[in-house]
Amino acid sequence: MTDPTTVPARSDPTVYDEEDLDVAGAAVRQHIGWTPDMALILGSGLGQLADVARDTTVVPAADIPDYPESTVEGHHGRLVFGVLEDTRVVFVQGRVHLYEGYPVQQVAMPVRLVHALGADRMLVTNSAGGIDRTFDPGTLMFITGHLNMAFASPGVGSGAMPARRLAGGDGARGPFYDPAWTTRAEQVALDLGLDARRGTYAWTLGPSYETKAEIRALDRLGADAVGMSTVPEVLQAHRLGMTVLGLSTITNPAAGLASGALDHDEVLDVSERMREDLMELVQGIVRVAEG
Ligand code: HPA
Repeated sequence: MTDPTTVPARSDPTVYDEEDLDVAGAAVRQHIGWTPDMALILGSGLGQLADVARDTTVVPAADIPDYPESTVEGHHGRLVFGVLEDTRVVFVQGRVHLYEGYPVQQVAMPVRLVHALGADRMLVTNSAGGIDRTFDPGTLMFITGHLNMAFASPGVGSGAMPARRLAGGDGARGPFYDPAWTTRAEQVALDLGLDARRGTYAWTLGPSYETKAEIRALDRLGADAVGMSTVPEVLQAHRLGMTVLGLSTITNPAAGLASGALDHDEVLDVSERMREDLMELVQGIVRVAEG
């Protein structure tokens, strides 16, 4: 097994080849002897879901070569392996964002890693601003499509690719968000009495919230919600052929759609209030993953 401590620092953080992934994978396998079936990438406030998993093993980001470390205070980067609803899962805690200054390839690197470790399904959650006027704070939105308004992709620079990869939009490789899993998950939400809707998520770079003019434009383009994450991970997962479910918690009306300024504390408050419902929902979503 390769000793990760002997690996030299990467000169170009945008290029990970299979060998690099093997090194990262080998470092993780020193901690954990089994392979996960599903990855859960949890947005703000949901990291604690890992607490309800059984038989957990924590692998700190610092132990994994090339793993991106979150620069946001209190967001420790780590992988937590455990069993949730009889499914072997890996939680990706402390995701990083493009606005933290990482190249998009590095933002998506944890997805490549968990896929290489065995996960072929991914649930990804986030907090988002509501653009659809009927989405009150606390609404849950299953993501059925996205707008890539950061105009970045982890596929850039990955070398010569077969044409089928270049043609990897909704058409050629199937939808980004699995319709069947989404429908089952929606039923779980309804059974729990939650206000669950569907919609299109617009990914913006951040780190500042959008301007009113940007929200007006995104509304006209067909976005129902807006946020600063998720799409890089989904683009990566789709390239790898993973089955993906996306879930947004609407924490606030997007800029200009309510009186008063947008406030990060409001976002955290709503996430906090939603936490218990979301934890139940996520467990149900894991239960129905396989249909
Ligand atoms: N905009 C962008 N990201 C967000 C928002 C928002 O209004 N709310 C939560 N994350």
